[in-house]
Amino acid sequence: MGRHTLKTNIASLKGDILVPGDKSISHRSVMFGAVAEGVTTVTGFLMGDDCLSTVSCFRQLGVEIEHKDDQMVIHGKGWDGLKEPKDVLNVGNSGTTIRLLMGILAGRPFHANLIGDESIGRRPMTRVTKPLASMGAKIDGRQQGEYTPLSIRGGGISGINYHAPVASAQVKSSILLAGLQADGLTTVVEPEKSRDHTERMIRKFGGTVEEDGLSVSVRGGQTLKGTNVKVPGDISSAAFFLVAGAIVPNSCITLKNVGLNPTRTGIIDVMMEMGADITIDVTDEDHFEPVGDITIKTSQLKGTTIGGELIPRLIDELPIIALLATQAEGETIIRDAHELKVKETNRIDTVVHELSTLSAEIKATDDGMIIHGKSKLTGGVVSSHGDHRIGMMLAVAALICNEGVSLEQKEAISVSYPQFFADLEKLM
Ligand code: S3P
Repeated sequence: MGRHTLKTNIASLKGDILVPGDKSISHRSVMFGAVAEGVTTVTGFLMGDDCLSTVSCFRQLGVEIEHKDDQMVIHGKGWDGLKEPKDVLNVGNSGTTIRLLMGILAGRPFHANLIGDESIGRRPMTRVTKPLASMGAKIDGRQQGEYTPLSIRGGGISGINYHAPVASAQVKSSILLAGLQADGLTTVVEPEKSRDHTERMIRKFGGTVEEDGLSVSVRGGQTLKGTNVKVPGDISSAAFFLVAGAIVPNSCITLKNVGLNPTRTGIIDVMMEMGADITIDVTDEDHFEPVGDITIKTSQLKGTTIGGELIPRLIDELPIIALLATQAEGETIIRDAHELKVKETNRIDTVVHELSTLSAEIKATDDGMIIHGKSKLTGGVVSSHGDHRIGMMLAVAALICNEGVSLEQKEAISVSYPQFFADLEKLM
């Protein structure tokens, strides 16, 4: 723990970064590999704490997972090969692990208990426990299944037609994973389109999924087959360098191997709209997940309004976009982003509080925030509040601060980007 002194007043950032593996895709590669038949080899797997929580949960469910060089090798035994865990499954800080795992366990005829850290204990779970219970899984948890610890006894489930109240890939994926094991057809209809990595994974592992606008359907009783997965770099990790390159003077950064799935590229659209000097070189238009290199140079920025269907396409990037907006001329409004309140922290509160400490002009609204730029950022003692994306956003903010900045709870960053500080220093 303790305080970590951040580098401030940086003159320029220059160079290339090979962006670490996508967190959403890394989780899914292990989960699908575990329930598929035969071996799955994953390259580019993100060795962050969250994805390692997924690996340890599946090991407890009897799946052999090896770590060889830069590969994860998963010895899948099919849905029926999963075993009742002898002990509690601990998901750590990972919302994706617990919500998707609940979907898998909903179809398994055994009992499991799930817990996580203190942040997980505050995050809403009825968004998955209710629809999974309506499919026939027996689930309980604190406050009628809203909070961990959760217990589940799955098996004998039937398909549902579910209209999700929020655009959430975790909710959609959880129900689809249950649906693959259920009797009949399962359909999820979302209010806006969320990331589609699960749909792509189902196809990659030989399964079938139908998409029609905002509706996604799977038939039950599908057997999946092990495959090789190449995980692209995480655009949500690249985002910290996209913003750093835009706001630090005299900068030019190329981010290599970034996943460019259109359900994730909202940050690029917003940065371009704000006037950022970005160029994209698509290197792989692969049908699984598109990939490319992105170059960002120091940019003159103007404020914008961000809301509606754009929100799910950049939900995890809103903390770093808030920082970007402090360096844009005029007002930036972020709206329709209530979901920020139920992330690893309440990200409306943590972003507004921490950026205000650094003298930004930012205020919270009920569904987002309003930022006035351009501000000179000063310095002070800030905290990640145990939230990896808040910690990295603050480290990027410090680069343009003209006084000292120290960061509390820096270690949270290893959830999604263990080598973040080493990569940042390479550019200085
Ligand atoms: C994720 C979906 C998003 C995102 C999270 C990862 C996923 O959450 O914020 O970091 O891998 O499905 P929601 O689905 O709850 O919006």
